[in-house]
Amino acid sequence: MAEKLWDGRFDIPTDKSVERFTSSIATDSRMFREDIEGSIAHSRMLVAAGILSSEEADAIEKGLREIEKDIAEGRFVHDDSLEDIHMHIESALTEKIGDTARKLHTARSRNDQVALDVRLWLRRETEEIIAGLHALRRAFVDLAEAHMGVPMPGYTHLQRAQPVLFSHHMMAYYEMFTRDAERFKDALKRINVLPLGAAALAGTPHPIDREMTRRLLNFPMVSANSMDTVADRDFVAEFLSCASICMMHFSRISEELILWSSSEFAFIQLSDAFTTGSSIMPQKKNPDIPELVRGKTGRVYGHLMNILTLMKSLPMAYNRDMQEDKFPLFDGVDTLKSVVDIYIRMLPNMKVLSERMRTSCEKGFLNATDMADYLVEKGLPFRKCHSVVGKAVAYALSLGKELQDLSFEELKGFSDLVEDDLFEALSVESMINRRTSAGGTARENVQKAVDTAREVLAKEQV
Ligand code: ARG
Repeated sequence: MAEKLWDGRFDIPTDKSVERFTSSIATDSRMFREDIEGSIAHSRMLVAAGILSSEEADAIEKGLREIEKDIAEGRFVHDDSLEDIHMHIESALTEKIGDTARKLHTARSRNDQVALDVRLWLRRETEEIIAGLHALRRAFVDLAEAHMGVPMPGYTHLQRAQPVLFSHHMMAYYEMFTRDAERFKDALKRINVLPLGAAALAGTPHPIDREMTRRLLNFPMVSANSMDTVADRDFVAEFLSCASICMMHFSRISEELILWSSSEFAFIQLSDAFTTGSSIMPQKKNPDIPELVRGKTGRVYGHLMNILTLMKSLPMAYNRDMQEDKFPLFDGVDTLKSVVDIYIRMLPNMKVLSERMRTSCEKGFLNATDMADYLVEKGLPFRKCHSVVGKAVAYALSLGKELQDLSFEELKGFSDLVEDDLFEALSVESMINRRTSAGGTARENVQKAVDTAREVLAKEQV
């Protein structure tokens, strides 16, 4: 049995069932690199503080690097009696270099150590997610540019409303994922704070130099209050909250891709390489990726609820409950990253069925508002126009026709203001291109949005 690092005050050994129950090594071992980086920085700082000699710090660093290699190459044995990654590494170090290893934990507690490891880990993951979102946003802009000019029905209440450009629809997702990237960048400011030096909860009497540790580990700032430092998991909740909003966006595009690839819509075709078949129905080609993404959204929301509930009502400062933060955080990160990654691969392989989108704009009175707007331009108050067009729609419906299928005389019958330029105003192209208000779907606007997005993406360093 491994020697406990805290066995001084205990008379009998820990029950095996307790070791199994309290151990977190199966989950937190994935932070081993961060744990080792943190310990090396801490030991260098202890040299400057006169607590370690530089020979001792060198021995510690050399031992830790060997352990890092052992773990990376799968030569590291987990032992529940050593609880977590922090104690596993310290115990392995003691085995390697002897008593010097026992000095490493001076002026440090596992409470600030674990906070450090999680922050270092999450900082790198968040940067990777921001980079992934950059590529995803580029994929939406690419789609918008490749299919510029293709009209599709725009929906409200999932009922055909007014025609829009398919590119406009894609750029709407560009906007959503851009906000997500900004949210992650903002969260990063609060993730990227050095907790080490808070010790157990009250600070330490040793003459440590937190500023030096901050520099060594490349943090922009040092945490202020030692109690808050070890008790704080806001940054985990905040990350998962950003991740949840981002997944919500993914669930929306996923729902649309699922609808659009049905024969009812038939607006897109997902590539064979990114769909699966049915084991019983030979004709089926299923949009499993968007379906799973939609499903995984619930999983990430669950992790956010998990953290909020975990932290609810916890008294100051560290409580063992907090060990439970790692599973939801790790799985939240893994899930989001896998979703970003599969979308970056799937989107460019999607086929856009532009003819079908275009012809769908011809049915469902998508030009009714435009007929009203036409009459407004001829001087009729909008509410009156609304009722005139309503009557025209009802008449066309009774004949099984669309407004543009009615004759000039029939249309003139609803208002004297109708001239033969009405047909041009009711055409899909004209409806789209007249919507030049800022943010509207006119082609020139959408092209400008694409150009701006390209400039924004080019300026971002990833
Ligand atoms: N395994 C613990 C965690 O993840 C590390 C901190 C434990 N601290 C303690 N005093 N037991 O939260």
